[in-house]
Amino acid sequence: MPALPYTSYCNYLTLLPRYELVDKTDIDIVVHAIRCVKERDLRIIDCGAGPGRYWDLLGSDVRHIIAIEPNRALWRPRHSDLWTYIEADGFSYLRTHTVATDVVTWIWSLNYELLSFFEDYDSKLNRVILKDWNLSFIHASNILNQVLDALANVYLVILFFDANTEEQTFVTEIWETVAPFPFHDRNFTRLLWEDIARRNARRLNRTYRSTHLSGRALYGPLETALHRMLNFHLRGHFNSDRAIVAQARQFLAGYLDHHLQVSIPSGAYLYEIGPQRFRYD
Ligand SMILES: C[S@@+](CC[C@H](N)C(=O)[O-])C[C@H]1O[C@@H](n2cnc3c(N)ncnc32)[C@H](O)[C@@H]1O
Repeated sequence: MPALPYTSYCNYLTLLPRYELVDKTDIDIVVHAIRCVKERDLRIIDCGAGPGRYWDLLGSDVRHIIAIEPNRALWRPRHSDLWTYIEADGFSYLRTHTVATDVVTWIWSLNYELLSFFEDYDSKLNRVILKDWNLSFIHASNILNQVLDALANVYLVILFFDANTEEQTFVTEIWETVAPFPFHDRNFTRLLWEDIARRNARRLNRTYRSTHLSGRALYGPLETALHRMLNFHLRGHFNSDRAIVAQARQFLAGYLDHHLQVSIPSGAYLYEIGPQRFRYD
C-alpha cells in the first residue's frame, strides 16, 4: 500500500470534541455495543481506528484488535500485543483479507472521511462535497456490499453523525460557502449508507438495528472550542478568513454553559447488523 498523502491534518483527532450522547460518551456507546455481541474473547477489526480511543475500555473482553488506520500519524503505541495497526483503506482490507473476526466497526469514519485515502486533503474535500463525490460513493458502496457478503457471521457496528443537529448544521453551512453540496437534503450521505446497510441486512437475513442518539458535544472553554471547531471540523481551511473565524466564535459563544464551557446539542446514529438476535433484545 503506498504512503498516504493527507498528513496535513494528521493530528486532527487530538482536536476531537468529546461527545456525550444520552448521558454517555460516544466511547461508552461503542464499547457497550461491542460488549453486547459476546462477553469475551472478541476478535475486532476497527476500520478508521484513529488512536483507538475505546480499545483500553474493552479490556479482557478482547482477544485481538486489528486497527485499520490509513493515517500513520494517528497511530498510538499500546503496551499490549492484543492489537495490530495496519496502514490501509478499510474497504480494500476487508475485501482482500479473509481474517476470522467477530466484530467490524466503523466509528465516525464513514462520514466525510471515507474517501480520504483516494486523494490528498484538498481534493478529498472536493471529491466528497463536489462533483465526483457520488461516483466515489458508488464505488465505496459496492465494496461495502461485497464486504457484507463475505463476512457472514460478523457483527457490524457503524456510528454516524446526525447532520441535522445544531453542531453539524453550522459546520456544513461554513463548508458550503466554498463547496456547495450538490444534493440538497441534509443527512444525504448517512441516508445512503443506511439504505445500503438495511437492504443488505434484509438480503442476507441478518438482524438490523438503528438507534438515534442525542446529547452534547463538549468543546471546552471558548478559545479551546474555537481551536477545535476551526481545526477539526473545518480542517484549518478557514483560519485566515476573519469573517468566518468571527462567525465561529459567535456561534460557540452562544453555547457557553454555567461553567463557561462550550456545550452544543449534537447527535449520532448507531447502526448494527448482526448474525443473530442481539443479546439485549
Ligand atoms: C473521525 S476519525 C474517527 C477515529 C476513531 N474511530 C474514533 O472514534 O476516535 C475517522 C478516521 O477514519 C480514518 N479513515 C478515513 N478513510 C478511511 C478508510 N477508507 N479506511 C479506513 N479508515 C479511514 C481517518 O484517517 C480517521 O482516523
